Amino acid sequence: MSTPLVWKTPEEVRAWVASQRGKRIALVPTMGFLHDGHLTLMREGGRRAELVTASIFVNPTQFGPKEDLSRYPRDPEGDLKRCASAGVVGVYMPEPSSVYPSGYQTYVNVEEVSQGLDGDKRPGHFRGVATVVTKLLALFRPDVALFGEKDWQQLQVITRLNADLELGVEIVGMPTIRESDGLAMSSRNSYLSADERKRALGLSRGLFAAQKLAAGGEKDVSKLLAAIRAELAAVNAREDYVEICDASSLKTLSTLSPGQRARGLVAAFMGSTRLIDNLAIELG
Ligand code: PAF
Repeated sequence: MSTPLVWKTPEEVRAWVASQRGKRIALVPTMGFLHDGHLTLMREGGRRAELVTASIFVNPTQFGPKEDLSRYPRDPEGDLKRCASAGVVGVYMPEPSSVYPSGYQTYVNVEEVSQGLDGDKRPGHFRGVATVVTKLLALFRPDVALFGEKDWQQLQVITRLNADLELGVEIVGMPTIRESDGLAMSSRNSYLSADERKRALGLSRGLFAAQKLAAGGEKDVSKLLAAIRAELAAVNAREDYVEICDASSLKTLSTLSPGQRARGLVAAFMGSTRLIDNLAIELG
């Protein structure tokens, strides 16, 4: 297990990428405070490419003015050890001024799939995500880039921008890694008090209940939404959104059809912490 290289500037990354010509490179973009979900992406990267790289950058442009940018959890030393344990050979850890130097003015806007859900609740969020991911893909020119399905809408935005901008990267979405009781792993779970951590299970319970209803033949989306909301109410979570959408276009659905790929998506506040989760919903 050797310590990964650390790159602080785009020039350092570019020089390293040029020196590896001909080798397959995987990239796992992250904001750090790594958990098993991130490590799963890195290990899968190692199966799909010869060299696995990662980025750790708390991207300011994807946070709204009232969001948690300044208190977002950070652990750079621990993260480097976790990257080493997952076989990562190099980590890009730039300062915001390297990514957005003075005079910076170029942003990437993915239109339809950035609308609704987090796109509505967090204005500008996906513009920031799309911009930084485009910059990372252009810098590393990886063969494959891996992202968690936990951020389902983000995954659709990235898949779309990669296709539309003809970047030619294989975008891989990996299933959400859950704690043994079902809570989706997230760096933001570290904000939860012990009581909120228990109550946070309302999100996954609601989604699993809706999944079960659909698998049992329930087509009526209002009944699935009611099942999710009942679990949120039982733990006193404040709903930000609850939707059942087409899995790729993210258009909201009112009825499920046989063979249709749908997704249940939830955002809710436990105290002041906003959590998201989602699950595949298919009519049985
Ligand atoms: O999912 C994340 O951690 C971030 O949104 C990403 C993709 C690294 C962009 O900053």
